[in-house]
Amino acid sequence: MNCRMIQGAKIVSTGSAIPSVRVDNEKMSSFVDTSDEWIFTRTGIKERRVLTDLDKSIIDLSIDASFEALKSINMHPSEIDLVILATSSPNDLFGSASKIQYEIGAINALAFDLTAACSGFVIGLVTAAQFIFTGAYKNVLVIGSDVLSKWVDWSDRSTCILFGDAAGAVILQSCNSSSNSILNFNLNTDGKYSNYLSIPYEESFDTHPILKLRQGCFKYISMNGKEVYKFAVSKVPLSIINSLTEINMSTKDIDWLLLHQANERIISAIADKLSISSDKIISNLSKYGNTSAASIPLALNEALKLKKISRNDIIVVAGFGAGLTWGTIVIRW
Ligand code: UT7
Repeated sequence: MNCRMIQGAKIVSTGSAIPSVRVDNEKMSSFVDTSDEWIFTRTGIKERRVLTDLDKSIIDLSIDASFEALKSINMHPSEIDLVILATSSPNDLFGSASKIQYEIGAINALAFDLTAACSGFVIGLVTAAQFIFTGAYKNVLVIGSDVLSKWVDWSDRSTCILFGDAAGAVILQSCNSSSNSILNFNLNTDGKYSNYLSIPYEESFDTHPILKLRQGCFKYISMNGKEVYKFAVSKVPLSIINSLTEINMSTKDIDWLLLHQANERIISAIADKLSISSDKIISNLSKYGNTSAASIPLALNEALKLKKISRNDIIVVAGFGAGLTWGTIVIRW
């Protein structure tokens, strides 16, 4: 991290929301050729939540997560200066953050979407921290929210078993620079491999009679699972080590490892590479699957409710996914 810090930043509140409809591995086996045994041993997932209500979207989940975060510290929405919505499944290609800003009553906030797939929350939190470090804003609401069930091909067993829908939110607040809790970050992109994980736009063959335009639509998630797996296991540990070394810390200083919840085998392999014992891993993947940008704030909120995390604990948070993008934040709680 190389930035001028006027103010420090700390997470003062969290919230999350999940749809009520639960789809377990048995249910998945009723419509694709798979089994609970295959899914659980290959991914660690037992069930996931999906948003089935026709009139509901990431906006509704995001609003619920945001209200939980606001209520837990009795903050009035008008105190929020900025809303960052990390999502790859907005309801509107021009962005969904402004609708959330309106619905929660954050009347003084700028709001924008940030698209970085499963790394979205990590990049969103780092972005929020920059606005706070410079003294520009005091309270930033960062939401990670995805409803990838809308973009999954439910007949493709290699992808549909992985994803679930959810939202998570945190409020990042300015504080004295000596109390800063965002200790360091490390963010990366390698666009060469963007085709490993994407929701491609496909043009239709309809042409405009005069302009010869083609218009199309987005299709389903396409993924090279093996390559994404190898990428995560090789790149994320390096990102974590770099961000710790830069601030004279080592993996021994880690109290909690909070990784993007994509696959239990990925999480374990990264922890093994870093020699981090399993009791320091925060994981709720078995209940929710891969909820993309929501997975980290959802797991963080749950860990806090379970009173796992104590003051001054060092939490290493790392995200990875489409782009390809990956990154780490070192947090002192
Ligand atoms: O946010 C990032 C999102 N993406 C990821 O995190 C993906 C990372 N990758 C993975 O998690 C793993 O690669 C998967 C879980 C997606 C797949 O696990 P794998 O151990 O890499 O399996 P595979 O793709 O090598 O497939 C092994 C076999 C294949 O059959 P054959 O060719 O060996 O006969 C697949 O057709 O398993 C088959 N298979 C399935 N069988 C039962 C693939 N999906 C399924 C399924 N149920 N759902």
